[in-house]
Amino acid sequence: MNLVFVYGRGSARARLVTPPLTGTLLPGVTRDSLLTLGRELGIDAEQAPISTAQWRDDCASGELTEAFACGTAAVIAPIGRVRGAAGEWLVGDGRPGPVTLRLREELLGIQHGLRPDPYAWTHKVC
Ligand SMILES: Cc1ncc(COP(=O)(O)O)c(C=O)c1O
Repeated sequence: MNLVFVYGRGSARARLVTPPLTGTLLPGVTRDSLLTLGRELGIDAEQAPISTAQWRDDCASGELTEAFACGTAAVIAPIGRVRGAAGEWLVGDGRPGPVTLRLREELLGIQHGLRPDPYAWTHKVC
């Protein structure tokens, strides 16, 4: 899956950050859809590289508040805890955050035909 990070705490506007497509990442349709939906919801979306050390440090400072993986099969899988070579840490309070849940609800709503699809992403299969 592709990874997306949510920055911004308190009154700061939420901002999505996902690594750029430099050739080693799959240009996932879910990633692309969520960047579009985010902008539609007033959430700026930026493509920038992020190391695991930066992920850890930005969680520690409270700047990075949410993270999720995304792809067709899982839609959005919230990430609550990270464990790896850079250490072990919680993302936010370890539970799915509001931006993650909102994006998931919006995308599922379009997929299930419960919300308007202004992008013509859905197709009728007869
Ligand atoms: C390596 C990799 N990255 C990302 C994705 C997500 O892509 P999509 O959103 O098009 O399902 C997949 C899905 O199979 C994948 O295999």
